[in-house]
Amino acid sequence: MTEQFDFSGRTVFVAGGTSGINLGVAQAFAREGAAVAVLSRSPVKVEAAVATLAEYRVPAVGFAADVREYDAVAEAMSAASDQLGEFDVLVSGAAGNFPATARDMSARAFAAVVDIDLKGTFHVLRAAYEHLRKPGATVINISAPQSSIAMELQAHACAAKAGVDMVTRVCALEWGPVGIRVNAIAPGPISGTEGMARLAPTPELESLVTDSVPLGRYGVAQEIADCCLWLASPMASYVTGAVIPVDGGWSLGGASQLFTGMRKLFSGNP
Ligand code: COA
Ligand code: NAP
Repeated sequence: MTEQFDFSGRTVFVAGGTSGINLGVAQAFAREGAAVAVLSRSPVKVEAAVATLAEYRVPAVGFAADVREYDAVAEAMSAASDQLGEFDVLVSGAAGNFPATARDMSARAFAAVVDIDLKGTFHVLRAAYEHLRKPGATVINISAPQSSIAMELQAHACAAKAGVDMVTRVCALEWGPVGIRVNAIAPGPISGTEGMARLAPTPELESLVTDSVPLGRYGVAQEIADCCLWLASPMASYVTGAVIPVDGGWSLGGASQLFTGMRKLFSGNP
């Protein structure tokens, strides 16, 4: 379903683009002809991601950096811009998550997720700003249903992703006048990802997820990538400041059931 997109001659930077959903997004842009840069902590993952992107016969570069370290992110952005040109698309999707109740979560555990997801998103957008094409660039933050729905075991991710949505909206306000659109996607449960391996690690929890999604199934990374391609295309030229659920209807209510079910399974309590 992506035949209508053409990103040849465009440059895309995907922060956290070396595995899972974000790698699927990076690959989708490469498939449509874009030069792609990815960034994450692990040099091994960066190298592997660049190799898969290069298979699309497009320029592909990668950087090993932690989004919690502003200077490292800024350095990678400058290098990517030097090598590939101004960014037409910026995707910010680095994140961390694990299930833990607020009572049992250490202060450092809460901070780790807020630092990666929320402060990391700000670092990525702030460092990218000078390299974004003006007018014309599109920014896409990868949020989550946790941003708007309270879920047990997710105080850190709920707080962080709610912040990501507000950074999205504020930057849409501030950057609209220079011709940059800023949106977010809140994916539902996506199959084969680290996120769902952590949040639904048993067959029982996987069934709970499937049953709680109105469309009755997990999504696939390509379905998130398709929304990214659309958001970055002229077809979305009047869309900014939006947080778009791509979740099979999960955020209509079912999403919170998973975590209630998870708490029962983990604690043995009703
Ligand atoms: N339950 C409770 N606390 C946990 C935890 C868990 N499963 N995993 C880590 N923590 C705590 C640690 O104990 C530590 O707190 P402490 O110092 O008080 O003991 C704190 O979180 C930081 O852990 P650390 O391993 O030092 O952090 P890190 O910066 O190396 O890693 C994480 C960040 C914890 C988010 C790690 O899970 C990660 O790198 N995740 C990326 C992949 C991912 O989560 N993918 C899914 C995306 S949705
Ligand atoms: P994933 O494969 O673990 O992707 C996370 C990516 O971010 C990896 O490339 C990881 O690489 C990188 N990363 C993590 N911490 C980083 C840091 N501190 N600095 C730089 N890079 C970092 O997970 P995923 O499940 O596909 O999730 C991708 C995104 O989708 C996340 O934003 C998540 O919140 C969102 N989401 C996922 C789901 C789902 O069903 N999986 C649902 C809703 C929302 P390194 O380990 O090399 O750093």
